[in-house]
Amino acid sequence: MQLFAILTALFALLAGRVLALEIAINIGDLGSIPATQFLDVSDSALQVACGSQCTSANETIAACTDDNCLCTNATMKAILQCEQCMFSTLIAENRPMPDPLAGNQILLTNYTAACLSGVNVTVPASLATLMTPDNWDGPFGQGLTPATTAITLIAALLVGGGAIAVVNTM
Ligand SMILES: *[C@@H]1O[C@H](CO)[C@@H](O)[C@H](O)[C@H]1NC(C)=O
Ligand SMILES: *[C@@H]1O[C@H](CO)[C@@H](O)[C@H](O)[C@H]1NC(C)=O
Ligand SMILES: *[C@@H]1O[C@H](CO)[C@@H](O)[C@H](O)[C@H]1NC(C)=O
Ligand SMILES: *[C@@H]1O[C@H](CO)[C@@H](O)[C@H](O)[C@H]1NC(C)=O
Repeated sequence: MQLFAILTALFALLAGRVLALEIAINIGDLGSIPATQFLDVSDSALQVACGSQCTSANETIAACTDDNCLCTNATMKAILQCEQCMFSTLIAENRPMPDPLAGNQILLTNYTAACLSGVNVTVPASLATLMTPDNWDGPFGQGLTPATTAITLIAALLVGGGAIAVVNTM
């Protein structure tokens, strides 16, 4: 019984060590975070709205025992569903990002960059790209080509991230 406990602890320790993938984000004061904290969003409204998607994505991440697993299509799909839900929810509620980890395209892009540099896995762009929801009626979108919309959106997110950084440093 005791040996089993020791072996379990040892396994957990070793498994923890293998998960070395670090997602480098320069938004706010977060700096670089490990994948296990990637969905650690504290906003309670988002936790309610996206609980099922984000819990399942969290479980998918937690079940990984190596970095490769963190970058598979299945893992990315789960993460994207969680991020997409938060992104759509924020747009529906017309709220700015409460947390740089919530519905953030830069974060997904950085995640794929970490997959490439960390374990040489190229994540398909389709599994790391947030879509504007059907009910999107923001200041941009209509009349813009998809490419322009994407660039405008990224610019808006960058500005948003900058605003968060300013708040954080106050
Ligand atoms: C995901 O896991 C992290 C770390 O265990 C936890 O802090 C966070 O609350 C979890 N998020 C969700 C949506 O379950
Ligand atoms: C991952 O998804 C991409 C695009 O959907 C596909 O081309 C690729 O074969 C998939 N990779 C695996 C390992 O299933
Ligand atoms: C992550 O995003 C930040 C902000 O856009 C950028 O400066 C940084 O180079 C990115 N890191 C990676 C690994 O892509
Ligand atoms: C990375 O993966 C690509 C495509 O699978 C392969 O051609 C390349 O040799 C790999 N690079 C390294 C450093 O393993």
